[in-house]
Amino acid sequence: MKKQFIVAGLAGLLALSLAGCTSNGGTTTPSTSDTAATSATAAGGTVGVAMPNKTSSRWVADGNAVQSGLEALGYQVDLEYAGDDIPTQTQQIDQMITKGVKLLIIASIDGTALTSQLASAKAAGIPVIAYDRLINGSPDVDFYVSFDNYKVGVAQANSLLYGLGLTNKDGSKAANPPAGPLDIELFAGSPDDNNATFFWNGAMDTLKPYFDDGTLVVKSGQTDFAQCAITRWLLESAQTRMDNLLTSAYGGNGAGLKGVLSPYDGLSRGIINAMTNVGMGPDIAGGLPVVTGQDAEIESVALINQGVQFSTIFKDTRKLADQAVKTAQEILAGNTPTANNTTDYNNGVKIVPSYLLDVDTINKEDIQSKLIDSGYWTQSQVDNGQA
Ligand code: BGC
Repeated sequence: MKKQFIVAGLAGLLALSLAGCTSNGGTTTPSTSDTAATSATAAGGTVGVAMPNKTSSRWVADGNAVQSGLEALGYQVDLEYAGDDIPTQTQQIDQMITKGVKLLIIASIDGTALTSQLASAKAAGIPVIAYDRLINGSPDVDFYVSFDNYKVGVAQANSLLYGLGLTNKDGSKAANPPAGPLDIELFAGSPDDNNATFFWNGAMDTLKPYFDDGTLVVKSGQTDFAQCAITRWLLESAQTRMDNLLTSAYGGNGAGLKGVLSPYDGLSRGIINAMTNVGMGPDIAGGLPVVTGQDAEIESVALINQGVQFSTIFKDTRKLADQAVKTAQEILAGNTPTANNTTDYNNGVKIVPSYLLDVDTINKEDIQSKLIDSGYWTQSQVDNGQA
């Protein structure tokens, strides 16, 4: 059943043409994607890379960076995006297995929906790396590369506290904090994404003392993960929920709302749309509430630069892609991949050995040093809000 595509005798040959590269969320994208040329140099066989969607610029950056890293090592890459549709992703993975890929790198849409695909991969001897999002409920995940998801949540909550004036940027208590109680609202990510709970737990553990002593209040009373979660991380759903919160708890015009914990830039933009639709704005009395984010998506970096969104958490997709490529190389060479966490990521069946990377918080004053100087985005992309 399993077809193997073996390109013999070309080991070590690299024909990377990096002329005319484009900057795309920090990735270097060869401007020519000549499949024939790529396969001619594919000494190592094909690696299947499954990404969730192209609507979030981070996954495009991730996909491009993983692809170019693998191609530089002599692998051919089958890179697929699933439009956030679970059946599409399962089908894409099935096809990769049928094609006989050497290894799978998967950023899942629903972390519990891939058990049978992973069982087929195992039966065909294809190792699986879960990329960014853990795949749950399967014994057949070999490794997990991600950012430290709990720390992302801690960073989001710390940024909210800083934006509210309760702490300094370094996390120390502010000398003259505003008198509480301060009204805030909470958003969480997609319930089928394992990361969403880690972000939430990191944030809630950090905010808890401020809820306990009455400094922070969630006026809507919606403080459970299930009440705050946004399925599939959709901007439109976050906007609708924020509309409803503004109507039900803030007199329809947002009066008194000081901050919103948002775990992802797409949600943050939906939340900000809802606020501006009821007449709130950065230049309007009271200003916009503090809104956090994640991913340093260019549309949100532009909003941060304009003083509209307060912060985002920068996950350098170049580093994650690099780690995934290193891990793939170790596995394909028959070695045990390097882990830095072997305790925290239990997928319900086993603890999956993991490599976790650190993240940076970005406020307006960090855009130059962290995003532009490092080549992740250019000044003109920040100015235009477009990749
Ligand atoms: C990723 C985040 C991203 C979110 C929405 C999560 O699994 O870790 O970086 O913001 O999905 O795409």
